[in-house]
Amino acid sequence: MTDSDQMGTWDKSAEMLVHQDEPYNAEAPPGALESRITPVDTFYARNHAPIPRIDSASWRLRVDGLVDRPLELSMDDLRRLPERTVVATLQCAGNRRADLVEIRDIPGQVPWGPGAISTAKWSGASLADVLAEAGVRPEAAHIAFIGADVSQRATPPQPFGGSLPLAKASSSEVLLAWAMNDQALPAAHGAPLRVIVPGWIGARSVKWLQRISAQSEPTDNYYQTEYSILPPEADPTAAGPGVGITLGPVGIHCAILRPGRNAHLASGPTEVSGFAFAGDDRTVARVDVSTDRGRTWTRADLDPPEHLWTWQHWRTTLTLPPGEAVLVARAWDSTAAVQAESPATVWNPRGYANNAAAHLRVTCHP
Ligand code: MTE
Repeated sequence: MTDSDQMGTWDKSAEMLVHQDEPYNAEAPPGALESRITPVDTFYARNHAPIPRIDSASWRLRVDGLVDRPLELSMDDLRRLPERTVVATLQCAGNRRADLVEIRDIPGQVPWGPGAISTAKWSGASLADVLAEAGVRPEAAHIAFIGADVSQRATPPQPFGGSLPLAKASSSEVLLAWAMNDQALPAAHGAPLRVIVPGWIGARSVKWLQRISAQSEPTDNYYQTEYSILPPEADPTAAGPGVGITLGPVGIHCAILRPGRNAHLASGPTEVSGFAFAGDDRTVARVDVSTDRGRTWTRADLDPPEHLWTWQHWRTTLTLPPGEAVLVARAWDSTAAVQAESPATVWNPRGYANNAAAHLRVTCHP
């Protein structure tokens, strides 16, 4: 344990935008969103309970349920499997909730800005290799994960968990990761072992992994259904399973990083830049930017998808007239899905999956 862990700052940069100290919830500062790979000390952190401290020497991973050979694996056992590396963007389903709150209040939820997203190089074993060793039975259709942290939000309190359909869980990109950006996985990000589910909401990438179960149904863990889109008039504290649309793959969205929020600029050519993230196994096909609220659009230069599972940065130069302007950026993905025009279209009682077009108000001086 480092001194920083003891102080509750978890080896993070002083620039992190901290929403809560306990549990520790902090978004990446705007500058960190501009690089392809986010440094570990500015990678966002999303927790629902105190961060558990786990002794990796005595820790064991249980693999059970509908399998032929239940397993109990140590870190040494896992490290004997072929090591895989995936560069993947992780995004919390609550990212950009702050824009939804402006439409209608969302009590009891962290008002994330656009920084509950980051990208890292993850290394570990492929989940598919572990499942193959256990021998998943034909009746199994879902793979459930349970972490070591116990959340008081569930009644009675229960460990954080989630599940994936077997097809995604068996895909080669889904990892049981023990390293992040070539460093040992830090406590705040799930040490000694976490799941990484590229292209899916961050909630399915369970940290401090303790148990994997093959089962016929999705898990009934509190957080599997908590992360769902409820109809606008539902009571988020009372809605049970089956009321909402359970979240999985991330939808296409983008953010404007430059100019910064409420920037005061000289009128004339202005560099506008940001990132877009397609989610799942889609890529970003195009990003358009408008200065006249969507009457006309300029196509931005878009970085090619260097890695299938990551965000793509974009930039363009626009000539802004003197006065106030609202910049709007919208992204399209490789299936031709485009972002909703306004957060009002996607508002939902728990404030998840806001993938409305990005808006930025700027003032230009003559
Ligand atoms: N796993 C456990 N055990 N407990 C958690 O609170 N939070 C989830 C997921 N895995 C969580 C978890 C959510 S909602 C997100 S967005 C990601 O972890 C955040 O991962 P990070 O903190 O490494 O950025």
